[in-house]
Amino acid sequence: VKVTFIEESGKRREIDARPGDPLMYAAKDAGIDGIIAECGGSAMCATCHCYLLEAPNGPLPEPRIDEADTIEFNAHAPQPTSRLTCQVMVSEALEGAVFQVATGR
Ligand code: FES
Repeated sequence: VKVTFIEESGKRREIDARPGDPLMYAAKDAGIDGIIAECGGSAMCATCHCYLLEAPNGPLPEPRIDEADTIEFNAHAPQPTSRLTCQVMVSEALEGAVFQVATGR
């Protein structure tokens, strides 16, 4: 599944993400700048925080309460489009999606 990340520098990078895995894993494996994932995917650290810019196949499932709470209380500059990429499961529906890495933690 092809997903694009826009890094803090503005560089766009398309990565290949495996369905069934959290998107954060694919972003880390690809070395996306700014995806740190300190908590290892437990929805606690918000260092995998991105903004969802485009979802060509329709909206993603809503964040669960733990993801929403971490975004609200731990993420820098949360937006309505904020997601923790460790809580976004890769599926075919993510094909063509674009995420902007959140800056300034
Ligand atoms: Fe820590 Fe996603 S890796 S919140």
